Amino acid sequence: MPSPTRVIHKRIYEVAPRDLERAGTVSTAVRRELLALGMTPDIVRRASIICFEGEMNMVLYSKGGRIILLVRDDRVELLFSDRGPGIADIDLASQPGYSTAPDWARELGFGAGFGINNMEQNSDLFKIRSRVGEGTVVRATILLGVPFL
Ligand SMILES: Nc1ncnc2c1ncn2[C@@H]1O[C@H](COP(=O)(O)OP(=O)(O)OP(=O)(O)O)[C@@H](O)[C@H]1O
Ligand SMILES: [Mg+2]
Repeated sequence: MPSPTRVIHKRIYEVAPRDLERAGTVSTAVRRELLALGMTPDIVRRASIICFEGEMNMVLYSKGGRIILLVRDDRVELLFSDRGPGIADIDLASQPGYSTAPDWARELGFGAGFGINNMEQNSDLFKIRSRVGEGTVVRATILLGVPFL
């Protein structure tokens, strides 16, 4: 059994549904936190992309929820949990190009259908769990390779 890794830093951010004014503020804050911790530009870049895509999906499609940034000594974890409506078919939603974005979101440049794919590509471990009527939980993990002190 590998020993549980030490938590170095934890932040919880609330995400309000449909709040386009504030959309992107969590990923900006996460970026700032990771830079302040001395993370490498590559780790910061990947975490920012993952966070932005997850945050936008929560703003556009969910009833809101929270994002938790967890920095452990060997990894950065981003946990997204929302209050629904949930994703009926996760495989379909994860397919590049699949989107249910409404017209108003498409007019703002969203809805290419690459967000989840982009999150997965930038993660070392990636897991979505969802229950229709309850909500969606996404865990994206970036392994640091060299342990972070
Ligand atoms: N948190 C969520 N709750 C409910 N449905 C979601 C959630 N996140 C994603 N989805 C569904 O999965 C689809 C695909 O998401 P994805 O992020 O890959 O693409 P997109 O948001 O449609 O477009 P893009 O991210 O490229 O702007 C969305 O269109 C939506 O139907
Ligand atoms: Mg998206």
